[in-house]
Amino acid sequence: MQVRSGLLRNQGQKIVFVPTMGDLHEGHLSLMRKGREQGDCLVVSIFVNPTQFAPGEDLDTYPRNLDRDLDLSKKEGVDIVFAPSENDLYPEGFQTYIELEKLPKHLCGISRPTFFRGVATVVTKLFNIVRPHVAIFGQKDYQQLTVIRRLVRDLNLAVEIVGGPIVREPDGLAMSSRNKYLTSGQRAYALSLYQSLVKAQALLKSGTREASKIIGNVSGLFLSQPETTIDYIAVCDPETLDDMEVIDRPALMALAVKVGSTRLIDNMILSP
Ligand code: PAF
Repeated sequence: MQVRSGLLRNQGQKIVFVPTMGDLHEGHLSLMRKGREQGDCLVVSIFVNPTQFAPGEDLDTYPRNLDRDLDLSKKEGVDIVFAPSENDLYPEGFQTYIELEKLPKHLCGISRPTFFRGVATVVTKLFNIVRPHVAIFGQKDYQQLTVIRRLVRDLNLAVEIVGGPIVREPDGLAMSSRNKYLTSGQRAYALSLYQSLVKAQALLKSGTREASKIIGNVSGLFLSQPETTIDYIAVCDPETLDDMEVIDRPALMALAVKVGSTRLIDNMILSP
């Protein structure tokens, strides 16, 4: 399979790639704007990747909105939209996957044990098809970005990985395609994710450096809240994702919380 970007690359153009699962929102558009500045040809892929969903997750209901996505991409000056079918990427007989040993054993990988295998596989395939010089991923999926940086290093892939900052609603909720599953009541509860990160940073600034104390304190925000269950709240090394006990250097605070049946994630780098 070939996308025209391969041809343009051979003609000397610098190819920038933003992989997405569609249902584009301001977070994706900010990655496209960042991408626009970094090369000659901007490629966006739109593909709801089945191999990163486990049975019982929201593959079937994941929002799909191709016409709107194409309009938005055009407005952002995207040169090529690559929207393959499931059969294009996973034809009959497909059986090769990419798996990382350690990074997926943390954070989201604990409750979604096959997720990063699906992400690493599809991203590698997309890189081979699109042949970008640069690829841009959002920092909201911090662990995904870490996995992809590792994958690129480990497999000597010739692509530069760039992270784009989390884009938030005015009240702080991180933008996500899954926010639209929330009722207005749940939307209010979902704000606690961001509030817990802000609170954690404030606790650290006021001298609390033990990760367990910070996690215990911010957990309280969720425990009293209806329809809310914590999947994890972790403070860890921003590169290895190993847990940190004392925050004596920048640390990643990451959390996943279910509000109703919607699983939301957010993160922030805490600096002592
Ligand atoms: O972040 C996403 O939207 C997806 O995980 C990605 C990177 C496009 C792979 O399917």
